[in-house]
Amino acid sequence: MRDNSFPVKGDGVIVTGAARGIGAATVANLVAEGIFVIAADAKSDLLGESLSVIDPAGKMTIAVTADVTKEEDCQKIAEAAAAQGIRIKGLVNNAAVGAFNMSVEKTTYDEWQRIISINLTSIYLMSKYALPLIRKAGGGAIINISSIHAFATSTAVAPYAAAKGGVLALTRTMALDLAPDNIRVISIHPGATNTPMLHEHAAREGKTLAELGFPTSENAIGRIAEPEEVADVVTFALSRGASFITGSSITPDGGILAKF
Ligand SMILES: NC(=O)c1ccc[n+]([C@@H]2O[C@H](COP(=O)([O-])OP(=O)(O)OC[C@H]3O[C@@H](n4cnc5c(N)ncnc54)[C@H](O)[C@@H]3O)[C@@H](O)[C@H]2O)c1
Repeated sequence: MRDNSFPVKGDGVIVTGAARGIGAATVANLVAEGIFVIAADAKSDLLGESLSVIDPAGKMTIAVTADVTKEEDCQKIAEAAAAQGIRIKGLVNNAAVGAFNMSVEKTTYDEWQRIISINLTSIYLMSKYALPLIRKAGGGAIINISSIHAFATSTAVAPYAAAKGGVLALTRTMALDLAPDNIRVISIHPGATNTPMLHEHAAREGKTLAELGFPTSENAIGRIAEPEEVADVVTFALSRGASFITGSSITPDGGILAKF
């Protein structure tokens, strides 16, 4: 018999970093399935604009302006979720920042702390405050967005790779701790994806994505991912179809990790 570790129509799911990119595509998927989304992002205007397109009637989402590096903001997101009076069956820890040109020696201590705080510690914080709600709902799933950098990496991404590797290990230990409560925990490890994060990096460098070496032919599929393709994996990981998956990583990477 399957456990009740997934949201269904009418349930609620929290998504962080919901204003754009993979987060916004995930919100759109969940709303299309009739799942209510507590959508959190630090960028208030962008979040409002995005939700007005995904959910024009404003009945399937609530926007919460929050910085997930702040404990009080994570509490605020959980309180907004609890206030909906529905079962909160999932959390997607998606918010993060890109960090390039950062070898250990080039990275100041403040920069290191900032990246680790956004890309790793926020997952601990947000999970801590969402878990009582998911437990109260009889179980659910936490999906942590990591990166291929947890497995294979490149030069000058020290804090990013360290944080994303931390997300992989955190996912495994959370999965073991939470299985008795019928809560699954899965990490998703995308390869390069066509989102503002990647384009802002290219703009900062004054180069095209191809000039920066983002795969056109480097991975097996020969292109970067669209955010919707990663969001579909996130939606699957939350869903009934993934009811026996926990403590695992899923890698929508176009096959780049399969290559020498
Ligand atoms: N785009 C890629 O190539 C790629 C590849 C692998 C993994 N990822 C991961 O996918 C996830 C989503 O990335 P994306 O490409 O959609 O990024 P994005 O920059 O397009 O969107 C990230 C969102 O997170 C929000 N955010 C950032 N810091 C925040 C904070 N402190 N509090 C609240 N919100 C915050 C931003 O405002 C933004 O709306 C991230 O975890 C990223 O590391 C992205």
